[in-house]
Amino acid sequence: FVVGVNRPGAAVSPTMYGVFFEDINMGADGGIYAELVKNRSFEFFKPLMGWKVEQHNFREGAVLVLNRKEKNTANPRFLQITLDHNSKEDLSLTNEGFRGMGIKKGLRYDFSFLYATAAPGIKLYVELLDRDNKIMGATTVTLSASGTVWKKRAVSFVATQTEEKGRLRISFEGDGKIDLDMISLFPSDTWKGRKGGMRADMVQLLADMKPGFIRFPGGCIVEGFDLSQRYQWKKTIGPVEERQLIINRWNFEFPQRAAPDYFQTFGLGFFEYFQLAEDIGAEPLPILNCGMACQFNSAELVPLDQLDPYIQDALDLIEFANGPATSKWGKIRADMGHPQPFHLKMMGVGNENWGPQYLARLRLFQKAIKARYPEFKIIASSGTDPDGKRFEYLNDSLRKLKVDFIDEHYYRPPQWFFSNAARYDQYPRTQTKVFAGEYASHPKVAPEKKNNWLAALSEAAFLTGLERNADVVGMASYAPLFAHVDGWQWAPDLIWVDNLNVFGTPDYYVQKLFSLNKGTKIIPLTMDHKPVTGQDSLYASAVWDEPAKELVIKVVNALPKTQTVALSLEGLKKQRITGKVTRLQSDDLYRTNSIKTPRAVYPVETQLELSGKQPALQLAPYSFNIIRIPY
Ligand code: AHR
Repeated sequence: FVVGVNRPGAAVSPTMYGVFFEDINMGADGGIYAELVKNRSFEFFKPLMGWKVEQHNFREGAVLVLNRKEKNTANPRFLQITLDHNSKEDLSLTNEGFRGMGIKKGLRYDFSFLYATAAPGIKLYVELLDRDNKIMGATTVTLSASGTVWKKRAVSFVATQTEEKGRLRISFEGDGKIDLDMISLFPSDTWKGRKGGMRADMVQLLADMKPGFIRFPGGCIVEGFDLSQRYQWKKTIGPVEERQLIINRWNFEFPQRAAPDYFQTFGLGFFEYFQLAEDIGAEPLPILNCGMACQFNSAELVPLDQLDPYIQDALDLIEFANGPATSKWGKIRADMGHPQPFHLKMMGVGNENWGPQYLARLRLFQKAIKARYPEFKIIASSGTDPDGKRFEYLNDSLRKLKVDFIDEHYYRPPQWFFSNAARYDQYPRTQTKVFAGEYASHPKVAPEKKNNWLAALSEAAFLTGLERNADVVGMASYAPLFAHVDGWQWAPDLIWVDNLNVFGTPDYYVQKLFSLNKGTKIIPLTMDHKPVTGQDSLYASAVWDEPAKELVIKVVNALPKTQTVALSLEGLKKQRITGKVTRLQSDDLYRTNSIKTPRAVYPVETQLELSGKQPALQLAPYSFNIIRIPY
């Protein structure tokens, strides 16, 4: 390998490697959003989904779901319970959680609910149950009469046992009617200890990647099956009880594993996404609906002369994120606890929308946004590209429109990733850059498409190609990000969880290592005067990390045997090279990580000591190596 250490090239964007979050595979509800109660506001398709009502002596009408849709369109349903001199054993409600509730011994749990009752002294027994119905944490709440006024009550208690499949039971004592809504249970160990917040273990894995950006909230959920089910950010902000939930676009997909009870409650909404981005030092990158529904399902379109509300949503979002606290939307942000701006700089218009219909709509968005915010970056949607041809026309048109980024997506077999390591070498260099917004290598291993080492290794090979072309590729993110082992629709995924644990796949470690070692400038690296894009099944790139004053070389060896390459570091006079190698490796291409073996494929760090004029670098079979050499 000849490494042109003294010939640094284009800058690597600080946002080069990021993450893409979509509420798929129980990524948000039942995932990173730490709410443990499923269907807390009784708004699911079937009002009592997730709840089991038990009565000792059955009385018709003792438990009713009422609908006040004229008064409260966002959250119309609530529960009305009529007690008739009840004692604790007479009536209970049990919530099953999202495939159970993950409960940790010694941890505080915060239970809350909205209620209205004219009857004084109604008592609630709140209990956590393990899978054998044993109580593992309990408290009681006695209510005073509120009349017809809705009040919030919150109480905390500590769990006495760890259980992956816990449940919550509420029993009632007293006499009279009680109305209930927003019955909620959160663990206290949320990210940054925020009440009603996110699972800290899941956020930590994102923070550990130091992602340059976070693309959200989708994906297909931006589009919806049809436009009535598209993602509307304005309905996801403000008090949680006023956020109008919708059925998740992924609810009925892939029925072999689908959750028919999969809804978006929006407890994780746009404010929380911006806050998450800020917390983990990532640029926020929202994707907005462009007036088109998901092209795989319906081709529902908003007529061009009726697109204004959609464009206004985009303009208002910029004001919500960046506007002063005195502006209409900036005030809502400030009232939610963030008077400072979120410094939103870019936005995607549409997700996987194509064709002349897309271009016509994009133009109108672009004109309106750039007129008001000339520096604001527009990311245009493009497609998956199996043969390199289908999207050429669209991409050409997007370049002519001078959009800032084209959001390319590819879900392809490992071989595609290996053979596309040179994909961007001949790509047109214009002011329009590439955003590899969704990619994942999909090995065909029955019965599930697993995140095995072959997939990750092929992504590493491909990413060396993105890095070598960092003058044209400005951002990249794997997709999807999260999946729950008991409720997923789509695989492979970057990070898997159950109710108590989280683990990174081999793909996660590949993305993380690229992100942590992205450097600041490309350095030319060649073998026989050519970029290393698969010769001898080797793939390589190099960058200079200016702040660290280190040369960073990334090499994939995709052969089942050790390979040795001679390193020639142009301009480096030292006879002895010392540094550090981080190696991700497995002899078995089908190895995966799991809840039980989360580190079957895991980075190992060793010291590097090389000497001689052309020191020899040993590359283990099927390995991805990051070599850092102080310069
Ligand atoms: O990542 C899963 C889906 O793949 C996304 O929602 C969509 O954009 C793509 O088709």
